[in-house]
Amino acid sequence: MTVFVVGGTGFIGTRVIPLLVARGESVVCMDINPHTANFSAFEDKVKVTRGDVTQFDDVINQMDASGADRVMNLSYNLGQDLPPHLATKLNIIGMDNCFEAARILKIKHTVYASSLAVNGQQKHFGDRLVTEDDLHRGDYQYAMHKSFNEFQAKDYVAKFGMTITGIRPANVTGPDKVRGSVDHVNCITRPARGEPVEFPFADAMRCPIHVDDIAEVFVRVIMTDKPAHQIYSSGGQVISMGDLAAMVRGFLPDARITFAQQTGGKDSSGNYLIDNTRLVSEFGVQYRPYRERVLQIINAVRQEQGLAPIAG
Ligand SMILES: NC(=O)c1ccc[n+]([C@@H]2O[C@H](COP(=O)([O-])OP(=O)(O)OC[C@H]3O[C@@H](n4cnc5c(N)ncnc54)[C@H](O)[C@@H]3O)[C@@H](O)[C@H]2O)c1
Repeated sequence: MTVFVVGGTGFIGTRVIPLLVARGESVVCMDINPHTANFSAFEDKVKVTRGDVTQFDDVINQMDASGADRVMNLSYNLGQDLPPHLATKLNIIGMDNCFEAARILKIKHTVYASSLAVNGQQKHFGDRLVTEDDLHRGDYQYAMHKSFNEFQAKDYVAKFGMTITGIRPANVTGPDKVRGSVDHVNCITRPARGEPVEFPFADAMRCPIHVDDIAEVFVRVIMTDKPAHQIYSSGGQVISMGDLAAMVRGFLPDARITFAQQTGGKDSSGNYLIDNTRLVSEFGVQYRPYRERVLQIINAVRQEQGLAPIAG
């Protein structure tokens, strides 16, 4: 069958699409930047078209023409930089266009990306794991838009009996990540390039998950006809920036990673204690050890630079 992926030429989509093909699916990918990825190795199994998710005609016409029975929306603005009107068009109207087109075309299963950002800062919950049932405490544009997307999905499900599932990725990491939370990425990639890097706080907490792991989550969820829940948190590896720096130095002893202060960052950290029991028990996902992923990122950067890989 065919999966229609919106925003599939980005960071996560370029890992999701090959996994879908490996499972025997065909993919039609609609993106406003169709040329930022190259899927030519997959020949006719992956078709990439240019389309704008903010334009309902683009979404419904291309979804319809794809003949897909499953839809995934990964298009979004990963930042706070857009003026409210533009951000609303992409994040809110764009998502609604996908849900509404999926409703009209009777799509079997629609999956979209939410984010751990809906939870806001960890301090709102104390030192406990946050579950999908906790109240949202995210209070900035990206977080509020993700919260609204979750509400909108629930509304479509309640009113039309659709199957729409949201995934809340934690801090996704990988060598080519440039948008969204990137300090935990730069802590690996800059030293791997031989560049110095400084961060404000060694005790700032993060919850990274490798992009290959989150791609597998998206694929397992979309290929399930009727997941038991409407929303799943990915969770990830709980780690401080200081401990991540130490892990990087274990592979790159000359890494120049400094912190302006050792303490003071934990209290302002986003949600990092995340209960992913729901996802793990229903879909049997198991992430590769994080240390292995850090080495994988270092070696991806070294390969780009023509350097020999470091052994694990
Ligand atoms: N990367 C992370 O750490 C992370 C964490 C939590 C949630 N998420 C969510 O996962 C999803 C995918 O994230 P990503 O890291 O791959 O982002 P990305 O920015 O790399 O990819 C987004 C894609 O959307 C496309 N796009 C932008 N505007 C569009 C438009 N108007 N019409 C069609 N396509 C458009 C972009 O060209 C890009 O290919 C997003 O919803 C993001 O909020 C990501």
